[in-house]
Amino acid sequence: MPTRDQVYTALGSVIDPELHKDIVTLGMVRNVEIHANGVIDVTVALTTAGCPIRDHFQNGVNSAIRAIDGVTGVNLTFDVLSDQEKQALRGKLGRATLPEGALAEVAHVICVGSGKGGVGKSSVTANLAAALSRAGKSVGVMDADVWGYSQPRMFGLSGGRAHANAARKIEPLVGPEGIKVVSIGFFVEEEAAVVWRGPMLHKALQQFLEDVEWGRLDYLLIDLPPGTGDVSMTLAQLLPQAKFIIVTTPQAVAQTVARRSAEMATKLELEICGVIENMSGFTNPEGVSYPIFGEGGGRLLAEDLDVPLLAQVPLTLALREQSDGGLPVVFSAPEDAAAVALTSAAKRLIAMDTAVLPMASVAAPAKPVGMSLPMA
Ligand SMILES: Nc1ncnc2c1ncn2[C@@H]1O[C@H](COP(=O)(O)OP(=O)(O)OP(=O)(O)O)[C@@H](O)[C@H]1O
Ligand SMILES: [Mg+2]
Repeated sequence: MPTRDQVYTALGSVIDPELHKDIVTLGMVRNVEIHANGVIDVTVALTTAGCPIRDHFQNGVNSAIRAIDGVTGVNLTFDVLSDQEKQALRGKLGRATLPEGALAEVAHVICVGSGKGGVGKSSVTANLAAALSRAGKSVGVMDADVWGYSQPRMFGLSGGRAHANAARKIEPLVGPEGIKVVSIGFFVEEEAAVVWRGPMLHKALQQFLEDVEWGRLDYLLIDLPPGTGDVSMTLAQLLPQAKFIIVTTPQAVAQTVARRSAEMATKLELEICGVIENMSGFTNPEGVSYPIFGEGGGRLLAEDLDVPLLAQVPLTLALREQSDGGLPVVFSAPEDAAAVALTSAAKRLIAMDTAVLPMASVAAPAKPVGMSLPMA
């Protein structure tokens, strides 16, 4: 009959490919039971329930134990490490976070969406990113608008190409003041129509999250396409911890549409962290304000959802021009009224976020990039 020592020695040859140590050393072997008929029961505790490298452990444990003389079968069950055990593991590994997924080092994920197109999601995303960065935060921007991507232009990165690094991970492009940007625009020719839907789209977004070397970020902002379709669904599935900012314009119609996306966020159980009203009047260079798109929509929606109205962003020429200038107005003209409003929104976001690293994230494999995205 096999001995416990033999079983533990065998298990000591199973290496966790992410943590680069064997599962016995890592304290991941929970339970070993040896039956008289030569069947061995083993429980291995993984770092996350949806561990994508489960198969690796399955195969590793099975073949290691079956190689022991007298073993007739293996019953392997998986469990998840408790928070306490993870803490101990972190201590053992001497690092602050566990590589639980590609976003394991991203503290906050915020999706910027709206039901309707053209309300300023992309401009708001880029400028919030800039304002968070100015506030000393490390920031990434993921352009999830695969059909009408605009972040490359917003950050002066048009024509840029994404490359994989030595670890076979996609490197984000680095925009002004170190903001990391990933967009489908870095994978396809300019103006190329991306017609992906369904599985192809899902795969591309998944790669943006899992195969991109985002590194340690305080904030990852996600610029959503207009509407409440495929992309939002996919992201909500992949990022259950993401929060949602809804951009709306002051008039009632836009607000109705924005409410629809709010309903979706609620349905998908993403937390809505606030509303940003954009195009809240035009302030002329003399400082006189004209409410060209009406008034009050943002406040109404925020009250309706019982979330804060994070900012009312006026229409300004500077913000309009920055779209082509490749430098968010928060960087290029921080005194501009739109920049000021978005800077204060960023400060409110920071004040709201008291959470600390790390947070549970996408259960992402450290697998090589199985390029479904065309790479330069
Ligand atoms: N506060 C503002 N002041 C001046 N121009 C603005 C403002 N907000 C947005 N714009 C302009 O409005 C246009 C649409 O903005 P943007 O691309 O950010 O909207 P969007 O909601 O992302 O659009 P889409 O739904 O197409 O993705 C852009 O030309 C942008 O420069
Ligand atoms: Mg946009």
